[in-house]
Amino acid sequence: MELRRREVLVAGTLLAAAIRFPAFAQSAPALPRQHAERIARLIAAMSVEEKLGQMTQVAGGRQVALNSRLDAAALDRVRAGRIGSFLHVAGGEPLRELQRVAVEESPHGIPLLFAMDVVHGYRTIFPVPLALAASFDPAVAEEAARVAAIEAAVSGLHWTFAPMIDIARDARWGRVVEGAGEDPYLGARIAVAQVQGFQTADLAGRDAVLACAKHLGAYGAGMGGRDYDTADVSERTLREVYLQPFRAVAAAGVGTMMTAFNDLAGVPTTGNADLVRGILRDEWNYQGLVVSDWNAVSELIDHGAASTPAEAAALALRASVDMDMTSDTYAEHLGTALANDPTLLPLVDQAVGRILATKARLGLFDDPYRFGDAVRERTVLGSADHRAKARRAAERSLVLLRNEGGVLPLTAGARVALVGALADDARSTLGSWKARGVQEDSVTLRTAMGDVTYAPGVAPRSDDEAGIPAAVTAAQNADVVVLVLGEDFDHSGEARSRADITLPGPQMALIAALREVGKPIVVVLMNGRPLALEAALDGIPAVLETWFAGNEAGPAIADALYGRVNPAGRLPMGMPRTSGQLPLFYAHPPTGRPANPDLAVDSARYHDTDIGPLFAFGHGLGYASFTYADLALDTHLDGQKARYTVGCTITNDGRVAGDEVVQLYIRAPAAGLARPERELRGFVRVPLDSGQTRRVSFTLTSDQFAHWDDDGWQVAPGRVDLMIGASSADIRLTGALAVPQAYALPADAVAGAALATPVTVS
Ligand code: NOJ
Repeated sequence: MELRRREVLVAGTLLAAAIRFPAFAQSAPALPRQHAERIARLIAAMSVEEKLGQMTQVAGGRQVALNSRLDAAALDRVRAGRIGSFLHVAGGEPLRELQRVAVEESPHGIPLLFAMDVVHGYRTIFPVPLALAASFDPAVAEEAARVAAIEAAVSGLHWTFAPMIDIARDARWGRVVEGAGEDPYLGARIAVAQVQGFQTADLAGRDAVLACAKHLGAYGAGMGGRDYDTADVSERTLREVYLQPFRAVAAAGVGTMMTAFNDLAGVPTTGNADLVRGILRDEWNYQGLVVSDWNAVSELIDHGAASTPAEAAALALRASVDMDMTSDTYAEHLGTALANDPTLLPLVDQAVGRILATKARLGLFDDPYRFGDAVRERTVLGSADHRAKARRAAERSLVLLRNEGGVLPLTAGARVALVGALADDARSTLGSWKARGVQEDSVTLRTAMGDVTYAPGVAPRSDDEAGIPAAVTAAQNADVVVLVLGEDFDHSGEARSRADITLPGPQMALIAALREVGKPIVVVLMNGRPLALEAALDGIPAVLETWFAGNEAGPAIADALYGRVNPAGRLPMGMPRTSGQLPLFYAHPPTGRPANPDLAVDSARYHDTDIGPLFAFGHGLGYASFTYADLALDTHLDGQKARYTVGCTITNDGRVAGDEVVQLYIRAPAAGLARPERELRGFVRVPLDSGQTRRVSFTLTSDQFAHWDDDGWQVAPGRVDLMIGASSADIRLTGALAVPQAYALPADAVAGAALATPVTVS
């Protein structure tokens, strides 16, 4: 597939173009003049080798052993000005010394950038990103990022490789744990909140760190849910779904982006000039730093897209990848490419300009040591305040999937048998990417539940069934069984795809044995991906999805089980019945033969499983119940566009206070196209006391109904269906709006799911 480019850049135009240092993105402040001048002077003074050094990021350690590669050879490279950035390094004191070498001993004294994957916490570990998205509360995602940024910044780090904003519709992909799930609207809102949390409004301010939106552009669409595998999506799906969170954070001023490992329709992303230089730079005017993923520049050869390292380097540079993460292909081979083709030199200067502008924007030219504070490090990391915020995030990320017969909340005094090795697995509470988190900081569910009978039963990563009889005995002596099932932390994450996402290990045998006992069973799920659990959960009356909920996992889950916390998270990805249903997403176009319960009718369904997911996108219960009423619509014409207010009232008719997540879906048909049956365009988590009624009001614009076609973003005239409800499968109110006339939007428009819907609650 060739992506359409609005402006084809040839070397000549680039040669003629002056090096620009504009704002990072439309909404970011322009670089002050003195910085722009300093950068221009530096570029004029630097040798080619020094420029390639700035474009080079080196591993200063490994994820498991940070700083382990900061040896004499690495320091000599810094002194020679041949390194621009390190990753997998940390610590106020060591990084201060490393920075000193760069600033005092390298030819131009350019400060280094220090980076690490600080994803859902640095020392204080919050719930995994998929869980944060399940809060349906961007403020929770922002707060998690803010705490992570504070702890990272005092530890000397300037830059985190987060958030991962890849839309994921196939739960076999292990990296779904790192993102916000299947939906571009939810994904864009969570992504923007995370970027704000990491960067704040002023990157030069205290405790702000650079965010990195990754992995541009369709990494989550890897075929078969296999990591690193080829993606082949239409340009419409790319623009309307996979790129929308990137469009949103580009507009919100994210400082950096990372290209994906995989190829898109045969073009490896790290060498994809149409995507990176074309869409990101030329269309969106994104001026932030673009870094490759780990070794991805040299892997252009493995993809077959380049035959020599010099070709690989030229390909990545032409695509507008500014910094080479770890492969040293720029440092060692871009010089050869430049000798063969001098028209590449202006591209090098552009890349270096963006890297230096990033350092300037962080305030590193003014004070290269302003990050890292060994004294604050001792009090800030894992502080009581940060723990309290992690607790709140954990509480808000829990999703009550099923609660038949009011089994939950547990009654005080009930005899509980707590079963399952995951209930006492502190390491798994940390999930994938733990930065400097340590399992000793985590409180497990077993510890938090206190005085209950505990039997590990079985573990997800062992074939050993010897614990089942003791679990059965515990159940026999209890009034209720709390059965903890799922995956351990290492079943999901990078390169952790699974073909069969049912329960690993002998967990089905444990369930079968406990069912025989006949006591009510509450299943607590721990996992980094939606699992396929139709058979496992058959006949189980209560199910609480808890993901990997971080250091405060145990207390948060225990509070939800006992009703001290009323869970109100919602699923950011639908849960399939079986693995064979994947990929699975709610926002699909209708077919000519919609799924029919009658198997005698030929329809879009499987014969060997029921229609639809086990639990739909947006689903989640609580201990209260809510009614929806009084839908009111208003249209305000605004030139060719229209603005709409959509209001309704929500009443808590339950006996306890609780939050309802009010969700607004649209269907915006367009002549000649099959448009998704339902697309999220607004949500809000509303707290309501028992008996309380509140009014929720969404403000939409017709730009949010846009679709992508061969001529770019288009808004079709006519009727747009509106659906308000408690999940994508539980619509309570319906109505319709009208788009008065057709219109087109410019290529750089923030449209469709990338645009936020303001919501008021009164
Ligand atoms: C590879 C991963 O794909 C990426 O997400 C991560 O940021 C880098 N490694 C650096 O650790």
